[in-house]
Amino acid sequence: MSRVLIVGSNRGIGLELTRQLAARGDEVLAACRKPSPELLALGVEVIEGVDVREDAGVTRLLEAIGERDLDLAVVVAGVLTRVDLDDLDFDVMRAQFEVNALGPLRVAAALRPRLSRGSKLALITSRMGSLADNTSGGHYGYRMSKAALNMAGRSLSVDLRADDVTVLLLHPGFVRTEMTGHQGLIDVSESAAGLLERIHALGLEETGSFWHESGERLEF
Ligand SMILES: NC(=O)c1ccc[n+]([C@@H]2O[C@H](COP(=O)([O-])OP(=O)(O)OC[C@H]3O[C@@H](n4cnc5c(N)ncnc54)[C@H](OP(=O)(O)O)[C@@H]3O)[C@@H](O)[C@H]2O)c1
Repeated sequence: MSRVLIVGSNRGIGLELTRQLAARGDEVLAACRKPSPELLALGVEVIEGVDVREDAGVTRLLEAIGERDLDLAVVVAGVLTRVDLDDLDFDVMRAQFEVNALGPLRVAAALRPRLSRGSKLALITSRMGSLADNTSGGHYGYRMSKAALNMAGRSLSVDLRADDVTVLLLHPGFVRTEMTGHQGLIDVSESAAGLLERIHALGLEETGSFWHESGERLEF
């Protein structure tokens, strides 16, 4: 059994990761801003009031974890608002940076003392943050904030290597959730299962790399 923290566990992919981990018998600490009935129904330990944009939320998270070491932390929290060239809204772009890029870094840095040797930190990013994959343009706020997250993850992988902590950047696929207006190629169960498979299979040799839940290695 492992002890796993999911940040952004109340709905979507985070909720499904929580469900699958609990079902396989792991001890799951489910952090979110406000729990949903679906999360509460899982009977896992819920840590609420965790907004990744706020130091206070992350302090609350650390207090709830206490002295317990983690085998895995997954930061799933993210937001998507479309911002295109003919309608650049810098406040909306900044808001996406706060959640998608700075939020996971704030959480990761705070968790460092709780990440035991041999543990893993998985950051749920997006293929839309890949420079190599960007042939369709647009989506400035989301793409730029996820590209920044990828860079943060890469630096974390270097800085945490000495602690024997593996850092993975994972794309969950195009998934039917609220974020996509329930459009997509796969459902949350397939996405979460694929993500957990990748997390299980990848280790320190692959730290700092970027993967699709399907098993394809992605370019930054
Ligand atoms: N769905 C896709 O096709 C797709 C593709 C590529 C990448 N992703 C990434 O996968 C992750 C999960 O997406 P999803 O599809 O499951 O989206 P979702 O259903 O919209 O869920 C987003 C989650 O992020 C949480 N969140 C948002 N802002 C937060 C904040 N400030 N502090 C803490 N939590 C916050 C939400 O909590 P609240 O309920 O409190 O807002 C919710 O739990 C995101 O990082 C997303 O960018 C998704």
